Amino acid sequence: MSSDLLLIKNGRVVDPGRNIDQVSSILVRDGRISVVGEVTADVIPEGCPTIDAAGLVVSPGFIDIHCHLREPGFEYKETIATGTKAGARGGFTSLCCMPNTEPPIDNAAVVDLIRRRTREDAIVRVHPIGCVTKGRKGKALAEMEELASAGVVAFSDDGDPVYDSNIMRLALTYSADLGIPITNHCEDHSLAKNGVMAEGWVATRLGLPGIPAAAEEAMMARDISLAELTGGRLHLAHLTTAGAVVLLRQARERGVNVTAEVCPHHLTITDKWVLGNMGVESGGASTQAYDTSTKVYPPLRSGRDVEVLIEGLAEGVIDCIATDHAPHELVSKQVTFNEAAFGISVLETALGSSLQLVHSGKMSLSALVERLTVGPARVLGPAFNEFATLEPGTPADIVIFDPDAEWEVDPSEFESKGKNTPLRGTTLKGKVLTTIVDGEIVYSASPRSES
Ligand code: NCD
Repeated sequence: MSSDLLLIKNGRVVDPGRNIDQVSSILVRDGRISVVGEVTADVIPEGCPTIDAAGLVVSPGFIDIHCHLREPGFEYKETIATGTKAGARGGFTSLCCMPNTEPPIDNAAVVDLIRRRTREDAIVRVHPIGCVTKGRKGKALAEMEELASAGVVAFSDDGDPVYDSNIMRLALTYSADLGIPITNHCEDHSLAKNGVMAEGWVATRLGLPGIPAAAEEAMMARDISLAELTGGRLHLAHLTTAGAVVLLRQARERGVNVTAEVCPHHLTITDKWVLGNMGVESGGASTQAYDTSTKVYPPLRSGRDVEVLIEGLAEGVIDCIATDHAPHELVSKQVTFNEAAFGISVLETALGSSLQLVHSGKMSLSALVERLTVGPARVLGPAFNEFATLEPGTPADIVIFDPDAEWEVDPSEFESKGKNTPLRGTTLKGKVLTTIVDGEIVYSASPRSES
């Protein structure tokens, strides 16, 4: 379809950055939002491609500040082509990809490679995240300035923490000057040890080594303290514990420059899923126990943790939802729980999972859309504001979804190469129907378009 004109009519337009939540139409012209409101016949040319969005939600496209596209080096798990198709199917128009690639994204040449692949293969925007340390080895700072000039949008050694406190201090100091956040994967290895799931009664019953909440919270407390010391830009990846929300809230109250994200799985499923009963208490493990698709870092935690994370997100103490989409090939999950790779393929289920918070009355739809658009843009900085709004003049990055449509999760239908999801066979309520980047339809679930 030509991208020069597109009319999206009669949708529920949810644009949280501008406090808009009303039935409206949107005219897209030359890749940008042209009109939001009543689109009169005189501005609609004959034969203008039209999407009837009656009964559907129309919002800015989602921004994911934490995913793994695996390229370069692990193309058997995911590529920029398949990862961006998965993103589009999930309603994401911007993806920030983590640097635990091979080679890692620790110099400008790798950033350039990703940019080239993006130009050639991507159907949504891709923004690389650079390493904090050379080779992600934690020993010496990467050339942060070179990476910033090459266009990285954040720094992280994700998959591993920045373990050395003095390196973290230096990185935060540079981040203040560069205006680019340091996203830390908070995990104290000396506490997490060889843990494979959350420490607690489920791990005990299954005989699996546990990871205590303190492994996340101890490093988070250190990072908050270092952000306070340096005035740097700290962003905390994938929070999972009730204690983490307390630390974050206190830091915010003291005015520390810290933001945080939470993943859809940590908001909706618990460690009981490792028992194999999809979270339903049955007194013991089922034949489906030890399902390696529930193995993720940080681990699925207790129902109490989930409740507190939801409260933190609803209040806005946690800024945003990020997927931590971590696709893996089958064989790295078809092994024992102890041996399996950590990670869940999330991009295509993120909306349906997160909408549970709206359907259960814990958050408004507008607040949820905020946490998927304006929230992540705020973490990344002002350059991202134009991708988190439907304001006329901005790039037409749009998602159209049906918040009430139910669908069964069938990983064989995923665009992602990663079929590793614990949600296989479950029903989600909320389905992406159309994703638009720069005015162009990059994903369409059903032919609702009339022209
Ligand atoms: C991530 C991956 O596979 O790259 N896995 C995950 O469970 N989130 C890395 C990591 O954060 O451990």
